[in-house]
Amino acid sequence: MTESIAHLLTPVKVPVTTLTSSLYRRKGLDVRLLRLDQIGDGVSGNKWYKLQHNLLAAHQQGAARVLSFGGAWSNHIHALACAGHRFGIATVGVIRGEPENASNPMLQDAQRWGMQLQFVSRAEYRRRHDTDYLQQLQQQWPGAWIVPEGGSNPLALKGLAGLVGQIQVQQLQPDYLITASGTGGTLAGLIAAAPASWRILGVAVLKGAGFLYQDVQQLLGRAGVQPQAHWAIDLQGHCRGYARTTPELLAFMADFEQQHQLSLEHVYTGKMLFRLEQLIEQGAFKPGSRILALHTGGLQGRRGLAG
Ligand SMILES: Cc1ncc(COP(=O)(O)O)c(C=O)c1O
Repeated sequence: MTESIAHLLTPVKVPVTTLTSSLYRRKGLDVRLLRLDQIGDGVSGNKWYKLQHNLLAAHQQGAARVLSFGGAWSNHIHALACAGHRFGIATVGVIRGEPENASNPMLQDAQRWGMQLQFVSRAEYRRRHDTDYLQQLQQQWPGAWIVPEGGSNPLALKGLAGLVGQIQVQQLQPDYLITASGTGGTLAGLIAAAPASWRILGVAVLKGAGFLYQDVQQLLGRAGVQPQAHWAIDLQGHCRGYARTTPELLAFMADFEQQHQLSLEHVYTGKMLFRLEQLIEQGAFKPGSRILALHTGGLQGRRGLAG
């Protein structure tokens, strides 16, 4: 049985893990992890917030289906397929790459949840923002509500404002809020809603991601937001590039998982926490600061590491 779409707006209390370590103690820092990996019932992590208002808008407009874009291991595609299944919304995934990838566990889940997959070449995928290409897709999939890659649009920012509200309701009062950044949509959403006293840091997981400054600013502009909070993007934490790893990253993750009894993945949260550790070592945060790091979920992607 499908769930009522109204469930999308039910406020969710997010679990918090206090991270204790000799380094944090030595530096006089209060470091906590906001466990978005534990919410959403399959629509995990930041995806819950990014999809909320996109799905509601599609529903209110009477869209026949929701269509979006991603790679074969996209957490966004996985979350959209799951949400479509739960809330009775037809979904289409335009996937970069060859149909052979349909055998990967992420896309198998998506198909099991009823998502229709359309595989496209890398050259075609590069056109995903072009108006004429979007019109072509619209004709091919009539009544489609098209959500950009990663779900990053002004409606996603609206959802993330709900997360900022929840952080305030839970009285976590961070001085610093830190997240991993791919497309920058999550970062933009946090920046848009954060009060002036918070500092927001995005750790880019792609190599050479300087473009993120412009993308984040563009998203804020499209949403008509004048940010209050100070924000920055760290470009040094990508560990060789998107979805790549280094032995140091893997060793850090293994230690961290054991020490704090929780799971990380290597594409986003693992890298962000590894970079945070380095920044703390370098003395980037004033003693007495409260740091809130976001575990943005995506743990199903760990199956990619095994492969
Ligand atoms: C698990 C996870 N964390 C973080 C991000 C980064 O979010 P954004 O693309 O909004 O920067 C993504 C997706 O892109 C993700 O899947």
